[in-house]
Amino acid sequence: MLDKMKLWKSTKEPDTLDDRIIECMKYQMPNHIAIIMDGNGRWANKRAMPRVAGHHEGMKAVRPITRLASRMGVQALTLYAFSTENWIRPKLEVDYLMKLPEEFLGTFLPELIEENVQVRMMGERSQIPAHTLKAVEKAVKATEQNNGMVLNFALNYGSRSEILNAVKSLAEQVQEGKLHAHEIDDAIFSSHLMTSHLNDPDLLIRTSGEIRLSNFMLWQLAYAEFWFTDVLWPDFSDAHLIEAIEGFQKRSRRYGGLKSEES
Ligand code: FPP
Repeated sequence: MLDKMKLWKSTKEPDTLDDRIIECMKYQMPNHIAIIMDGNGRWANKRAMPRVAGHHEGMKAVRPITRLASRMGVQALTLYAFSTENWIRPKLEVDYLMKLPEEFLGTFLPELIEENVQVRMMGERSQIPAHTLKAVEKAVKATEQNNGMVLNFALNYGSRSEILNAVKSLAEQVQEGKLHAHEIDDAIFSSHLMTSHLNDPDLLIRTSGEIRLSNFMLWQLAYAEFWFTDVLWPDFSDAHLIEAIEGFQKRSRRYGGLKSEES
């Protein structure tokens, strides 16, 4: 880990941020961080640039956040890159968004392999353009032997449809006599979701000042700590991630029980 920190220091961040990172790592880190990367459009608008320029800048912000999360020992980072509702945006914007995974992975894949990151994707594949899926699947394959942080792209993802599909699949199993309805519990239900291979997120970050979930991981976020920030996603930096983790570490997580001093 020390080696990792030395590597990180070489990126010339101010010492104060290094100190905060080292301090954070002494405490319970969130195992799984989920991020709703919002505010790309407004970022571009403020600069009189086209919305797609904001998405491009947003894509660039993914790289340092992934690198820092991985180096701090986060086990999974899920990024909401495209929702099932985003198809109603102008075609030009949708087409552009669907090119970003290729561009991102085209340049960043060697570093992800080197960093021991495992690339995954969750979402409804059938509507995703072939060129986008190809780039993602190439990255998934190229990193499948890695055992470090999972970088999980939510692409054409919608939580309600994920939940409905789980319900349908469980109902079929019951109908076929493979499962009794009373046997269905949290673990069985979770195993039918697209995140069956991941623990639930402990920390949800949403940028840009919006305070809603937008059909994102509704089941999986049941006990997550929520961190909302006004920062627009393209401006979200290492310091903002550290601030969110520091906030997470200050909160007391009781999972519906009592604080230890109250029991
Ligand atoms: C929401 O901002 C953001 C999106 C719909 C797309 C998010 C995608 C990225 C940040 C890039 C993904 C990168 C990779 C590597 C796949 P918005 O456009 O709704 O912003 P606004 O609310 O300000 O209009």
